[in-house]
Amino acid sequence: MRDTLFHQSPLWLGISGLLIILLAFRTVWLRVSNSKTRSSISVPAPRKELQSEFSVDSYDQIDPLEEFDLDNEEPLKIRPFKDKYYLTMGIENIAANDLIVMDKTYLARINLRKHLINTHTSDVLAYNPIITPAVTEYYTYLLTIYLPRRFPTIYTLHPTTLFNTTTNTHIPLTPPSTAAALRILGENIDTDFLFLLPTPLPPSSGKEGSKYTLQGFITCFPSGFATLSKLNLSLADIHAPVPGYAEKLERSMDKFFAALPAGRIVRRCNWGVTTDDRLFAMSGNHMSEDELRDRRTHNGKEEEEEEEEVFDVKDCVLRIERQTLHRLPRTGAVVFAFKTYQYPLGDIVDEGNGEALAKAIEGLGEGNVPGMKVYKREVVWGERVKRFLRGEAGGE
Ligand code: HEM
Ligand SMILES: *[C@@H]1O[C@H](CO)[C@@H](O)[C@H](O)[C@H]1NC(C)=O
Ligand SMILES: *[C@@H]1O[C@H](CO)[C@@H](O)[C@H](O)[C@H]1NC(C)=O
Repeated sequence: MRDTLFHQSPLWLGISGLLIILLAFRTVWLRVSNSKTRSSISVPAPRKELQSEFSVDSYDQIDPLEEFDLDNEEPLKIRPFKDKYYLTMGIENIAANDLIVMDKTYLARINLRKHLINTHTSDVLAYNPIITPAVTEYYTYLLTIYLPRRFPTIYTLHPTTLFNTTTNTHIPLTPPSTAAALRILGENIDTDFLFLLPTPLPPSSGKEGSKYTLQGFITCFPSGFATLSKLNLSLADIHAPVPGYAEKLERSMDKFFAALPAGRIVRRCNWGVTTDDRLFAMSGNHMSEDELRDRRTHNGKEEEEEEEEVFDVKDCVLRIERQTLHRLPRTGAVVFAFKTYQYPLGDIVDEGNGEALAKAIEGLGEGNVPGMKVYKREVVWGERVKRFLRGEAGGE
């Protein structure tokens, strides 16, 4: 009786009503504060089903490296070599955050890049007018969105310029010309950029469709090729010197390029050993079977001993490119970019990877394209570099 009375009393109704309202407030408040903390955490984990959609919005989802200290940032240690060399696309998806990597080698690299752009302009920078909208699109994205959001300790956005806080310099947000845009990218980012567009197949080919061709570039650190000689060429023609490309890669690459959705960003890495540490290398680093034959014959006759190339193992470096590939959402051009890393062989030994690299060198001729051994000039440096990596006599 008392209970029923109490339950029905206006006092109880008032208290329970207040409780319900308080509970509701608490729930709403928790939701709001949760979503606040979630959005300030640096890595928003997209839901699984969103990840596979490759939304173009991903280009705007850039998390700041608030504490980034350029002078103390160690270069990435990329070790992509395997026991046997299999020529594959070898790509993996990455977030827009990881489009550009910066580290303490920046200043030295940038100084070299400025010098190369001034002294070898047409070797490192060229374009066809058709690529202008794509260069402008990417330039604008990098300067107004990517760089200031990702590296706030280096760049701040001003109304018409990107302000470089390290050197107190202003970079225009609107490029004065396509050449200037490519030059500014090359002088400020330690990454080489190549722009490709789908080009309709000529009627003479008797086929429908298009193929991707190189239409513009700023490449200060080519590894053994002249980028200008690749301008206007298709992916297949660009890779003509690469053994196994036509058989093992061409079809999958063409399919991949044709289907690549804007918002999907991929990365791959290559590796090689070079007998010097020139970053700007328009020749060397690679060899063809014909060159090898010329080396081994003299006046058309087989030589007893092949002419030894003079180099010091201590000058050899492991050279690795971190390459990225993605489509620009507005112009549809594909941007291929790479940052070059060089590691002294002594570092590889010191970190305990000497044997792993020596195995990988042996494995160049044991995978699906044995011709890689010649193409990467292993026939020149292989034996001595392996001895050095294994700490054997004769490796010095
Ligand atoms: C998924 C995309 C790609 C793959 C799998 C790929 C694969 C390769 C491989 C395996 C090599 C041999 C290099 C070595 O191992 O030493 C190579 C060389 C090269 N690649 Fe690519 N590549 C790709 C995209 C591109 C694009 C978009 C360009 C644009 C211009 C390009 C330009 C070159 C050049 C210039 C060389 C040197 C060729 C020479 O020796 O003349 N690659 N590529
Ligand atoms: C921005 O700062 C870096 C680091 O000091 C410098 O090397 C680079 O050249 C600067 N960029 C411009 C446009 O001056
Ligand atoms: C590339 O093609 C363009 C036309 O699209 C032509 O004007 C230019 O001379 C060509 N350049 C080279 C290096 O073949």
